Amino acid sequence: MSIRTIYQYPDPVLRRKAAKIDEFSDELKELIADMADTMYDAPGIGLAAPQVGESVQVIVVNTGGQDERQYKAFINPEITISEGSQIDEEGCLSVPELTSNVTRFKRIQLSYQDEEGTLHELSAEDRFAVVLQHEIDHLKGILFIDHLTPLKRNLYKKKMKKALASKKVVA
Ligand code: NI
Repeated sequence: MSIRTIYQYPDPVLRRKAAKIDEFSDELKELIADMADTMYDAPGIGLAAPQVGESVQVIVVNTGGQDERQYKAFINPEITISEGSQIDEEGCLSVPELTSNVTRFKRIQLSYQDEEGTLHELSAEDRFAVVLQHEIDHLKGILFIDHLTPLKRNLYKKKMKKALASKKVVA
């Protein structure tokens, strides 16, 4: 188990459509364990494989309370039912220095596989549903900033460009 590097916006891996997992190997279990370590180290409440540079359909979500290491891995997750709406403040380990309100579905139903390949269904609502929608977006190359108004998004892009440019000067 080890902590992996978190890729940040605007890295292209975050924009790629992640591939489905069809081999439930030891390598997959290792990726999941590393993603959990990386998530708790950050710290974050969810992490998608593209955020550690692996363009595959794997997410981990914290399911324990504060300071409690308990998580669940979702392989090839797919939202099958969605209803209602809610607004919650979101941030992302791959999009530093920004949090913003995002409108999401209030309740979702999900089909996914566990690390052995067994198929499951799950209902989620409120914050848990927000985290799942945020992470599943990552597998489609979508970031939470894509849900913001164009004005807000452009302001952020400009800010990041400036930050990147100044980094280059220092390097
Ligand atoms: Ni994120």
